[in-house]
Amino acid sequence: MKVTVVGAGAVGASCAEYIAIKDFASEVVLLDIKEGYAEGKAMDLMQTASLNSFDTKITGVTNDYSKTAGSHIAVITSGIPRKPGMTREELIGINAGIVKTVSANLVKESPNVILIVVSNPMDTMTYLVHKTTDLPKNRIIGMGGALDSARFKYRLAEAMEAPISDIDGMVIGGHSDKGMVPLTSHATRNSVRVSEFLSEERLEQVSADTKVGGATLTGLLGTSAWYAPGAAVSGLVQAIACDQKKMFPCSTYLEGEYGLNDICIGVPVILGKDGIERIVDVPLSDAEKAKMQESAAGVSKTNGLLEL
Ligand code: LAC
Repeated sequence: MKVTVVGAGAVGASCAEYIAIKDFASEVVLLDIKEGYAEGKAMDLMQTASLNSFDTKITGVTNDYSKTAGSHIAVITSGIPRKPGMTREELIGINAGIVKTVSANLVKESPNVILIVVSNPMDTMTYLVHKTTDLPKNRIIGMGGALDSARFKYRLAEAMEAPISDIDGMVIGGHSDKGMVPLTSHATRNSVRVSEFLSEERLEQVSADTKVGGATLTGLLGTSAWYAPGAAVSGLVQAIACDQKKMFPCSTYLEGEYGLNDICIGVPVILGKDGIERIVDVPLSDAEKAKMQESAAGVSKTNGLLEL
C-alpha cells in the first residue's frame, strides 16, 4: 500500500509521521516544491523508525510526481496556511491554483488514486477537485470533520472533567469557524447524552469553542495546527488502506443527501477500500437542519469564487 503526501510542511510531515507510526502502509512518498525539503523531512522521519518501531518506508521528493506513480491514496496538504486573524476562506486565491495543479499531477500518475484534500478552504478545495478531475466522487474526500470532531470531544471531555475515551461526538457541516455543526444532541458519554452532564449554556460554550478550534490554535501558534490535523488524516488513510468501514464525517459531493446538491460538505460517511463507500443519513433536529443549510450557503458562496 503506497501513500503519497503532497506538502512537507507541518501538516504534511505530521500526516506522514502518524501514518508511519501506525505501520500499516508499505511506503509513504512525501513531495514538496521546496528543493530538498521533503527529502530532509523524510530522512529525519526514517531515523525515528528504529525508535518508534515502524517499517513504513518514507521517501522524500522535490516536485517529481513520477515517484508518486501507483499510489493507492494521496493526501493534498499543499498551499499556504492561515495566519492569526485570517479565515480559511481567505486562502482561496492562492490555494485553488495549487490544489488544481497538484490533483491533476497526482491523477495523471495514479489514475486509481483516492484523494484526501486537506488544503483550505477545504470544502471548496474538495469541490474544485471534484470539478476539475474525472475521479468518481467516492474517491475524493475532504478532511475536516474528523479533526473538528476530535476537537469537539476534547472540549466535551474538558467540560465534563471526563477521560476522552468516555466521549463520543461528531461535527458535520463546513470546515469553517461559522460553518461547523457540532451535533450536541447526539454526543454521549458512554451512551448517556452529554446534556445529562452539562447545562445548555455549557454545551453552547463547548460548541462555540469547537468551532473556533483551528483559529484558537492559529492565534497561539502563529500558523495553523498540525498534530491533530495530521492524526485525523492518518485515521482516514488507515480506514481506507485497511478497509475498516469506519464512520467519519468527511466532505463529500452531495446529490440530494441532507437536502443539498452540487456541494462538498461534511457529512458522516463509511470509509473503506473504495474510499467513501456510503453516506450515512443521520436524523437531525430542525435546529441542526437549519444550521446545516446555513453552513451550506456559506460553502456555496466560497465555491462561487472559484474560476471553474
Ligand atoms: C485546522 C486546519 C487544518 O483546522 O484547517 O487546524
